Amino acid sequence: MARVEAHRKNIYRPAYYVHKWWARRVGSVFRGIALDLMLPPDEDVMDAYYKAHDFSDKIVLDPFMGGGTTLGEVLRLGGRVVGCDLNPVAWYLVSQSMREANVATLLASYQQVADSVAQSISDAYRTTCGGCGNEATTQYVAWVKQVPCGKCSQLADLHLTQVIMADMAHKGGGLVDCGSCGHPWWVTAVGDAQDCPVCAATFTPADRRSRNTHYHCNHCGHAERILDAIAGATAPPSHRMRCLTVWCDACGKRHQQPTADDLGSYERSCADASARWGHLLIPRTEILPGHNTDQMRRYGYTHWHQMFNPRQLTGLSALFTAIRQIEDQPSRELLTLLASTTLELNSMFCGAKGLGTGAIRHVFAHHAFIPAKEPLEANLWGVHRSSGGFSTLFKERLLRGRAWAEQPVERRFTGSTAVKVPIPGERLAGRPAKEFQDILSGEANLLVLNQSSEDLPQIPDSTVDFVITDPPYADSVMYSELSDFFYAWLRTALGAEHPNFAAEHVDDSREAVHNDARGRDGAFYAAVLGTVFAESARCLKSGGRLAFTFHHSGEVAWGQVEDALVASGFVVERWWPVFAEMESAVPLQGKKNNGHLDIVFVCAKAGEIDTVVKQDSIEQMGQRLAERVRLVAADYRALIKAAAVQTSTWSRASSGQDRSEAA
Ligand SMILES: C[S@@+](CC[C@H](N)C(=O)[O-])C[C@H]1O[C@@H](n2cnc3c(N)ncnc32)[C@H](O)[C@@H]1O
Ligand SMILES: [Zn+2]
Ligand SMILES: [Zn+2]
Ligand SMILES: [Zn+2]
Repeated sequence: MARVEAHRKNIYRPAYYVHKWWARRVGSVFRGIALDLMLPPDEDVMDAYYKAHDFSDKIVLDPFMGGGTTLGEVLRLGGRVVGCDLNPVAWYLVSQSMREANVATLLASYQQVADSVAQSISDAYRTTCGGCGNEATTQYVAWVKQVPCGKCSQLADLHLTQVIMADMAHKGGGLVDCGSCGHPWWVTAVGDAQDCPVCAATFTPADRRSRNTHYHCNHCGHAERILDAIAGATAPPSHRMRCLTVWCDACGKRHQQPTADDLGSYERSCADASARWGHLLIPRTEILPGHNTDQMRRYGYTHWHQMFNPRQLTGLSALFTAIRQIEDQPSRELLTLLASTTLELNSMFCGAKGLGTGAIRHVFAHHAFIPAKEPLEANLWGVHRSSGGFSTLFKERLLRGRAWAEQPVERRFTGSTAVKVPIPGERLAGRPAKEFQDILSGEANLLVLNQSSEDLPQIPDSTVDFVITDPPYADSVMYSELSDFFYAWLRTALGAEHPNFAAEHVDDSREAVHNDARGRDGAFYAAVLGTVFAESARCLKSGGRLAFTFHHSGEVAWGQVEDALVASGFVVERWWPVFAEMESAVPLQGKKNNGHLDIVFVCAKAGEIDTVVKQDSIEQMGQRLAERVRLVAADYRALIKAAAVQTSTWSRASSGQDRSEAA
């Protein structure tokens, strides 16, 4: 189940995917963990999986809640939850997406925004159909980044080939443009020589113009490293408008070269942005140095708003401003969250996925900010059969998410075929608590905290039944650096409404990650993790359990987790492997050979149990898994490292040894 869900997490649990969070775990795994812990020991998890439950007598804490997967799953099972994250973006997204919503009010609020800005935002994307001459609407604008040529000083294009977008529906086909005259058209074989139908130039679209790291000047033929061309840049590179994909009511979808009118209309957007610059509701925050941000800073990006072009900035400013006028607070906040989602699909760091797909590749296709050589701009409001626009996201993310929350659906597998199984009687409906007392009394079921979980004074000793969490995996994801992108906008949009957004940047000084660029090493990671585990132990009732997932391709990080468990007085009672999520991270350690497995650890306070749970040997586990997934060496190593962590927590708990002695 996890393997299939990992590829389509947003389809399986749409309510959680109203907004981006990085390295989200698979929901079915957390439903499994929660059931495993909360069911009486003799009941089978898979029998219980497709039924509604009432665990309203249970309180679960997630001290690293991130996108809120644990919270969502426990709420569905009827439990009461407390989630905490030091990141205000995570806090905002969980607070908004896990609570009950009134869809009728939400629709009315959306309509108010549409009435006020749909027209003006859409006007910036009007064009003329090259086929029939009637008015048409731009769905996408393909751009190409430019750098000054080191030899002739003219602007050199950075596109790698003459293929603008591959056609996913017709293998080998694609949208290409002529290097001589710029004419775009669709060909069946991008790898074959083509004659331009306009200027008769002959070329093979898929041929590389340059190496990946280099540019090839289209004026003088000079080739040079891009990094040399932009060395010392104080402003981001410029862009050339390359091709428009338009929708014409008479002719359908067309690809056409931008005309003087199109360039003129874009220039007017730019002039409008400069004229109203001081009044635009856009972030003015600086991009701080960091592991993920240094690359874009080298390209001359110094402020978050520079990731967007002026047309996007004026449109986003209008959108956030209109949402601010909504009176109903829950709708206003949910739509603000959705506008933040819109950022991810409407910046000049977005690229093209290909024809016949959702078209827009969002900013975080990798856990990094990679300046796109060939950005794709979407129609910000959204137009017939386009993706990425606010109106489309409203339907796809919010309405679909709300529908699922009212009637969650799981998948049952027979072999590899999945059947949808609604769970009658179940709902995802958080009733927000003001304080922990509301959770204790059962008046509310959802408390969302925004602070470092090293210290949770709101939660009295021994009040929580289970801690279920997914801590950061050492150096795998730099949450704060990445989230600053959204934070800058949310802070501008929410202003004084939420004191959580008062600071200029996300305060990551206590973030449990190993980030050398921000001066925090592996020992810091282990220490913060240990303190959070110790605080979790304080909150846990006696007999409670801490369950968490872990994944890392290196070795050192496993030792750090072991140190954190020993320091906080936990021993590993049992563990098992599950299929991991599939997002592409860019970790510091062990870049390649990333395995497919996450390990689920279930831990008890040392002294409360006296033996591990008997489980399969590593060989048996490996054999069983290999029947279903193609295991790589890293997967077997993950099993061995998990077993080592388990053994060491026991030996170190009884001997007081440190890691090297125990090893
Ligand atoms: C791996 S993510 C959790 C992902 C989550 N399970 C999901 O599926 O969305 C870990 C989270 O820990 C948070 N975090 C890191 N250090 C923290 C600390 N000291 N206190 C609270 N949260 C912290 C990060 O901001 C991040 O959101
Ligand atoms: Zn037409
Ligand atoms: Zn041509
Ligand atoms: Zn040149």
